[in-house]
Amino acid sequence: MPESQIKLYYKNVTADVIGAEHGITHKQFTDLAEQSLPLIIQLNKERKAGETPYRDLPYNREAPKRVKNLVAEVKCDCENLVVLGIGGSALGNIALQTALNPYMYNLDDTQRRGPRLFIFDNVDPVQFGSFLDWVDDKLDKTIFNCISKSGRTVETASQFLIVRKLLLDKLGPKGLRNQVIVTTDAEKGTLRSISDEAGFKNLIVPEGVGGRFSVLSDVGLFSAAMCGIDIDALLEGARDMDKRVSCEDFYKNPATINAAINWHYYNRGKKISVMMPYSYHLKDLADWYRQLWAESLGKAEDLKGSKVHIGPTPVKALGTTDQHSQVQLYREGPNDKLSTFLQVGNFDRELKIGPAPECAAELDYLANKDLSVLFNSEKTATEYALLASNRPCLTVVFPEVNAYTVGQFIYLFEVTTSFAGALFGINTYDQPAVELGKEATFALMDKPGEEYKELAQQIRSLTEVDNELLV
Ligand code: PA5
Repeated sequence: MPESQIKLYYKNVTADVIGAEHGITHKQFTDLAEQSLPLIIQLNKERKAGETPYRDLPYNREAPKRVKNLVAEVKCDCENLVVLGIGGSALGNIALQTALNPYMYNLDDTQRRGPRLFIFDNVDPVQFGSFLDWVDDKLDKTIFNCISKSGRTVETASQFLIVRKLLLDKLGPKGLRNQVIVTTDAEKGTLRSISDEAGFKNLIVPEGVGGRFSVLSDVGLFSAAMCGIDIDALLEGARDMDKRVSCEDFYKNPATINAAINWHYYNRGKKISVMMPYSYHLKDLADWYRQLWAESLGKAEDLKGSKVHIGPTPVKALGTTDQHSQVQLYREGPNDKLSTFLQVGNFDRELKIGPAPECAAELDYLANKDLSVLFNSEKTATEYALLASNRPCLTVVFPEVNAYTVGQFIYLFEVTTSFAGALFGINTYDQPAVELGKEATFALMDKPGEEYKELAQQIRSLTEVDNELLV
């Protein structure tokens, strides 16, 4: 379906448009192409050697089969689906739901193609408590999908333990077994043991796939399929993008160009990457991208073990909302950002703007115009305003927002991240700094073990409140 291909438009980073001080010259592009070519070959080799298993998810036939079988088994009795997870075990699910289901999905039964969906990726007792009050008399029609690769993430584990007690108290052991579905490692981890012992229905987080690269596995596919999203089209979009991002011609490979431009600007002091969708549907893909970019590229050491403290800072903005909040800074503040707009060609629906009342003739120019024309004009206007201040911009153009184009986008940015990691010379797939925070929380919550006792002491002495400095 080439007419439904998403495209990366990069003219507005060129020196021809914004000048050589901030733009990329022909010579610089030639150098980037030369530097990138061995990395394209290297990444393709790593992929063939099975070192980047996320690249093969769109080809996995078992996962969609497993997911669809489970959906067929549980969907008819499920009015509410609750995902418990965090980070890579939640952001992809949120992004798919926002992108591919109607805004009023949960509230309007006529707009729903499946159960209401609630995704909890936090441990705020006020928020979660309010939800539990609402769901209390609907537990037998509610499925809790607990997602955790490691099975020991404290937020997800705590949510699960609260829900487990609630289900046991209200519905007994059989009810607990019926209402919980676990998504975790196929063989190891705490959640796997719990699941095996309790006899929960379960799905798999594939081996070697980090959370932030897992949305096209059981992790993201199950809630999507439950809510009527076409997961086959999603995976087809990813497969079609795979062909484009495996291409060894730099100028035909959107992931390499995207990564090279980002890397180039980082080295020229533009260390902030703004993603700004002009589409409500695409807004949570920007959140998903934020984690992917930040956790993958923010690293203290390079692959040789030298201290580098490297990584572009991803920022999410929403058009047009943030034109009235951020664009002043983006235009007149430091020229330290590369903005990537997400633009939609054809929106799912159109709204005509109504006529202006007589007393407001100045609004006449809007009358009878399409709201989508206003939306896209505002994107062009913001782009123009940034270019007028010599600020570089990229645009990802979606012919329309559907499962096929969203699948392409996900895969494009995953592989862009891999290329960017290779250009930065870091390990894209670990997240050691997040691990320390997890360990510290274990220590503060008195998890048994000498190492945690010592860590708790260290943390308490470092973070003890000094009242002298409390004003
Ligand atoms: O991308 C990642 O690896 C992380 O964001 C994890 O997804 C997150 O920390 C949750 O981990 P887990 O799925 O093990 O509960």
